[in-house]
Amino acid sequence: MYRQPAMGDYGSNGYHHHTNHQHSGGGQVAAGHRGRRGSRGRQRRDGSGSNSSASRVYNYYGAQQQEKEEERAPPPPPCTDFDVAYFHSYAHVGIHEEMIKDRARTETYRNAILQHQSHIAGKVVVDVGCGTGILSIFCAQAGAKRVYAVDASDIAIQANEVIKANNLSDTVIVLHGRVEDVEIDEEVDVIISEWMGYMLLYESMLGSVIRARDRWLKPGGLILPSNATLYMAPVTHPDRYSDSIDFWRNVYGIDMSAMLPLAKQCAFEEPSVETISGENVLTWPHVVKNVDCYTVSVHELESITTSFRFQSMMRAPFHGFAFWFDVEFNGPDLNPSNNDTSSFNASSNGYVTDPNQRKKRPNPNEALVLSTAPEDPPTHWQQTLIYFYDPIDVEQDQVIEGSVTLSQSKENARFMNIHLEYASGGRSFVKESVMR
Ligand SMILES: C[S@@+](CC[C@H](N)C(=O)[O-])C[C@H]1O[C@@H](n2cnc3c(N)ncnc32)[C@H](O)[C@@H]1O
Repeated sequence: MYRQPAMGDYGSNGYHHHTNHQHSGGGQVAAGHRGRRGSRGRQRRDGSGSNSSASRVYNYYGAQQQEKEEERAPPPPPCTDFDVAYFHSYAHVGIHEEMIKDRARTETYRNAILQHQSHIAGKVVVDVGCGTGILSIFCAQAGAKRVYAVDASDIAIQANEVIKANNLSDTVIVLHGRVEDVEIDEEVDVIISEWMGYMLLYESMLGSVIRARDRWLKPGGLILPSNATLYMAPVTHPDRYSDSIDFWRNVYGIDMSAMLPLAKQCAFEEPSVETISGENVLTWPHVVKNVDCYTVSVHELESITTSFRFQSMMRAPFHGFAFWFDVEFNGPDLNPSNNDTSSFNASSNGYVTDPNQRKKRPNPNEALVLSTAPEDPPTHWQQTLIYFYDPIDVEQDQVIEGSVTLSQSKENARFMNIHLEYASGGRSFVKESVMR
């Protein structure tokens, strides 16, 4: 049950409760810590929406500010039961522990804040989805004048306690509610958010950052991270395949090959979040989508299609496609507005153009990059794999071509439909999967 705290629970000390969810989303927090990020536990399927209303909590919400926002951003989407369950999943400590222990993630954010200290010191910041408040605190430590730490999950209760315990209540104002609904009575200089889901866009949290940008960010303001790039590449993974499939050929001396069709169906039906290495990757990656957080629109993220053409660098069984992403932390002045989605040369992402080299070149803008690539140190995002039912044997230089469409599910916009068409060696295939 998504608990709506009574107003008297924590109405003082800078803590502001914004959420008026009417009913439970049926979310059930799993006991383990390794549930899928942002979708822990079961979710109700009826999709009936509970509306969250934006109650005014932080000082006077000026009519002028409201008018400005209405011009800049359309009315917020309703808060559905799926959203309620999603926020409920973030009330569990495990998911925050996992994210904070991901040093590549947390330290890159801290370094990005320090690198942009001159844009943050003395300025107003909004932290979209503050969780435990860690990024808000980094911003306060960097000298922010005021930080609005917004989260719709009950984790906001703990964030407020953490902020109080660190004597930062005068600087960091916790707003417990959806970014879409809370009210902030001023424009902000900086938006910070850790919004990236598996395959970058799973969870659909970027839409909330866009909304925050359109509601509050001053012209010329800073968004961290500033850019994101989603990549894909064909992979070979004989060990993984053998582990899940070949295993059935001989089980304690018994031929259980009859299990193979079911094993293939179950093992490879859904996208799989797991860690692979650079050795598994058969070709240079293809840029599926470049996102410029300063300009991207919500509409642009609803459905993304790209065509790819790879050439295998080796002879190997081709087991499926891997997806991963990186994000950059540029100021608005340095932000490359490069939306080139051509194969092999992902120009803003630091991959070299020479196919004989696997290493990344130094970033031309020296922007900080948080990478979840197979060749980089592992993160809690790992990589997302879409395996085929049967592998395809490819020769060196064999062409693999096709297209992929990633679209928000109509059932629940936080789910992602993946439509893959691919052809190689004269055979062509279509694969549909849903990341839920
Ligand atoms: C990936 S976590 C990041 C937490 C924290 N910023 C950190 O870096 O450790 C995302 C957080 O955003 C919150 N969130 C997602 N969408 C939101 C929205 N529309 N409004 C408010 N909070 C949101 C979730 O509840 C979750 O706590």
